Amino acid sequence: MTALPTVRTKADLRARVAAWRAAGERVALVPTMGALHEGHLSLVGIGRANAEHVVASLFVNPTQFSPAEDFDAYPRDEARDAELLAAAGCDLLYAPGAEEMYPPGFATSVAVAHVSEGMEGAARPHHFGGVATVVTKLLTQAAPDVAVFGEKDYQQLQVIRRLTRDLDLPVEIIGGPTMRADDGLALSSRNAYLSAQQRAIAPALNRALKACAQAVAKGAAVDASEAAAIEAILAAGFDSVDYLEVRSAEYLERLGPGPIDAPARVLTAARLGRTRLLDNEPI
Ligand code: PAF
Repeated sequence: MTALPTVRTKADLRARVAAWRAAGERVALVPTMGALHEGHLSLVGIGRANAEHVVASLFVNPTQFSPAEDFDAYPRDEARDAELLAAAGCDLLYAPGAEEMYPPGFATSVAVAHVSEGMEGAARPHHFGGVATVVTKLLTQAAPDVAVFGEKDYQQLQVIRRLTRDLDLPVEIIGGPTMRADDGLALSSRNAYLSAQQRAIAPALNRALKACAQAVAKGAAVDASEAAAIEAILAAGFDSVDYLEVRSAEYLERLGPGPIDAPARVLTAARLGRTRLLDNEPI
């Protein structure tokens, strides 16, 4: 297979994208941090369905990790990722170094209020600032017609939708459905950290979310449904639940405690040993 064309500077990226757009061809961007799995490759497929050309970015963004998190240990294998991307129909890889993204003296950050508060925002205080800043940069560097992000990181997706609207960025944000193993576990780069015993426990997270979503959809009280789901996750063998909350689907406002009558989402993060798993379901 021919190697995937790769650029490492924003100037080269802009030149490639500008040539496509000058020819009247649409461009999709799929931002990633590598360690690719079927979930990412499905986003490339969505990009292909919405544009003539798909650019994937690969940048393990240091500013969205806290000092205690796995930035140094985060799996990095550009050659493998490039092969997978090429096979999935990606046309160009943008893999900048840290200095290209954050040159000396870099001093600006993007903060998105409300939608980034609570849940992941509470568990990882600087996370969404880092995500919002790097995604704003990627969207302005690549200037794509559409950008595709996974619904698995649902709060991140809504933060990105909000910043795109608020900053008038001329790009359509598309959410790609979560890809799952046959037993319901959401695909994630961090699943590789699970032992065989933990992997057998892990699908309980999605089962509990589905049960919670069904109960709330049928008119059950939000607080009792959240509590039942947390109990089921702990009973299955998870060590702790960071949060499990029913929120409004768009701006992620807290809902309940009683029954609800508007589109919503139930979101959770729970810990199995040293691995933190995220998932969410629509209501
Ligand atoms: O979801 C991710 O992989 C990252 O948060 C993103 C959107 C590529 C920004 O670094």
